[in-house]
Amino acid sequence: MSIEQQIRLEKKRDGLQQAWNIQHEKVKQIRQRLVIENGTTNQFQLEQELKQEKDKLENLEAELNQIEAALQLALQTQISENKVKISPPKPQPTNGEAPPFITGAPITQPRYFFGREKELKRLFNLLKRHPLQNAAIIGKKRTGKTSLLHYLKNITTTPAEQLRPEQKSDWLPHPENYCWIFVDLQDARMQSREGLLKYILESLKMQVPTPCDLDSFMNLVSDNLHSPTVILLDEIGVGLQRCRELDDGFWESLRSLATNHTGGNLAFVLSTPESPIELAHNTGHSSPFFNIFGYTAYLEALTEREARELIASSPIPFTDEDVKWILTESRCWPLLLQILCGERLFNLEEGENDDNWRQEGLRQIKSFTHLLDS
Ligand SMILES: Nc1ncnc2c1ncn2[C@@H]1O[C@H](COP(=O)(O)OP(=O)(O)OP(=O)(O)O)[C@@H](O)[C@H]1O
Ligand SMILES: [Mg+2]
Repeated sequence: MSIEQQIRLEKKRDGLQQAWNIQHEKVKQIRQRLVIENGTTNQFQLEQELKQEKDKLENLEAELNQIEAALQLALQTQISENKVKISPPKPQPTNGEAPPFITGAPITQPRYFFGREKELKRLFNLLKRHPLQNAAIIGKKRTGKTSLLHYLKNITTTPAEQLRPEQKSDWLPHPENYCWIFVDLQDARMQSREGLLKYILESLKMQVPTPCDLDSFMNLVSDNLHSPTVILLDEIGVGLQRCRELDDGFWESLRSLATNHTGGNLAFVLSTPESPIELAHNTGHSSPFFNIFGYTAYLEALTEREARELIASSPIPFTDEDVKWILTESRCWPLLLQILCGERLFNLEEGENDDNWRQEGLRQIKSFTHLLDS
């Protein structure tokens, strides 16, 4: 796709997005009118109207998805042709635009992150003294691994006014000295040796050599890394399974960098659904890199106190009975809490005074019941 075509497509996407927003609002208003309408005839007419407008909304959504897919494909092509510079992931907005309950995307703004206090204490203990030590975060799908990595990276330097009152942020004595590098190994751009090494060097604000190979990377980093640096490797399993260039030699070099060449200033924190050693074994790797993770955090449900704190962040307070129901059905898993709270809040905002939200909530969490299998 040419650049001009891409720009045209992006403009079309933006226009469609606006149309989708307007249509979404329209559907919402008809729903609200339907709630307060008592007459059967009017109710029937409104239901018909709602159906038509919902169909229009779905068509817009389908068209948007198509354009997004085409743009994504164009991006992938540019990546393989090396035309795109990688920038770190964009955080969620801080000025109140974000919805109070976030379901789906990882939490990137500390104020929306709850709990994990025990794990945070252990992890920061490993990272606050020399030599920095490595850690692994293990958790099933959707348990909050990526959110925890983002939290580690951001919490110590986020200004107090962007945090909740009482939210602890003084985990490190000198947070301003730390460099945090978040690597998403599901991102195609991180799956080549050169792509990944370049990204790390750019994040360290070091000059990228040409060619950017492992030898020059090792030399540069061992000579110039003088302040504490933590490389967060999200979804390391994908890196091991899919990226042939990230082979045993590559991981061994990273291990030797952390253990012998950076004066204790470099540590890795990785996330994975299984233990690093099993993971290496299952993907045919034998690298000693996977033996250096002294501490492993296993992500379980939140404690009841932490879950209650998440629920209490609702802008419209829930009744004790609703809180109890949400705690029981979610068994304190953060994603399930977010979904059920989101449903309850939506229902309150719409002025609906029934219990249909519970049914809807249970339907929404159905895809994630693997979390409830103990
Ligand atoms: N500490 C937390 N506080 C609040 N919500 C959380 C927290 N951790 C996870 N969540 C919720 O769980 C969802 C999934 O989180 P996240 O994407 O971090 O999980 P994951 O383990 O990385 O998932 P995947 O296995 O798909 O990569 C988030 O969208 C959010 O709703
Ligand atoms: Mg994740």
